[in-house]
Amino acid sequence: MKIKFLPFAAVAFVLFTGGCATMQPGPTAVDTSREVESLARRFPPGAKAPTDAEIVALLKASFKDSPSAKLDRLDQTPLQMACTEASRSGKPLDEKLRDGLQAAALASVKYPADGKYLGDWKRGKAIAQNGRGLQYTDKVGDVAGGNCYACHQIDKKEIAHGNIGPSLTGYGKLRGQTEPIVKYTWARIWNSHSFNACANMPRFGDAGILTEAQIKDVMALLLDPESPVNQ
Ligand code: HEC
Repeated sequence: MKIKFLPFAAVAFVLFTGGCATMQPGPTAVDTSREVESLARRFPPGAKAPTDAEIVALLKASFKDSPSAKLDRLDQTPLQMACTEASRSGKPLDEKLRDGLQAAALASVKYPADGKYLGDWKRGKAIAQNGRGLQYTDKVGDVAGGNCYACHQIDKKEIAHGNIGPSLTGYGKLRGQTEPIVKYTWARIWNSHSFNACANMPRFGDAGILTEAQIKDVMALLLDPESPVNQ
């Protein structure tokens, strides 16, 4: 397999198809056996490795388009292409390229116009637990959740959590609520590539997964001293 890493696709599939106890049954993949058979015919042992385009075509043939989950999710942005290439070659991104990609991601972050970063941690808790939204079976316009628990430990009382991302338990208690911390956290959630070009976390604001109000609520979940995360 030539493409080892399709950051957004990988994230999208983790996010929307499985890996979290709070998630509903995901979409899916159509029966791939036909495509696999046809690939095996086209690439018998010893044949030249399939090209990237052929692999992408196979991936696309393996999923069905739906109004809420279109196959254009498999089209990579230049950043994703660069990260795929870095992963495949095993060589880290060129430093200049990496810094440029991170700076562009950070410049894309929209901070709240009213200067208020924290909403309601109770609503934030529900958003962090909700893995619906943008899934194959969702209706267009359904409100999406953040599915944060798929990758993070957050409230330590919730034992069903993934570990792709670091634990966020005690986040506000450990870091405080100074302006740099609050802005950093906002930017991380809005566009995670701002600090690590090839981060695996979805771009909740940039990609329009969560609204500004929802991001305020998950910010409160992490930073509000009253939040169970900080008890
Ligand atoms: C698909 C997995 C995934 C999901 C879903 C996810 N994250 Fe992350 N998150 C990560 C990873 C991986 C990192 C570490 C980033 C890196 O590699 O630089 C991270 C980092 C973070 C950080 C920075 C932590 C630090 O120590 O500075 C915060 C804050 C954060 N995530 C919040 C959230 C919130 C809030 C949600 C839900 C709205 C969420 N994440 C959903 C994978 C995820």
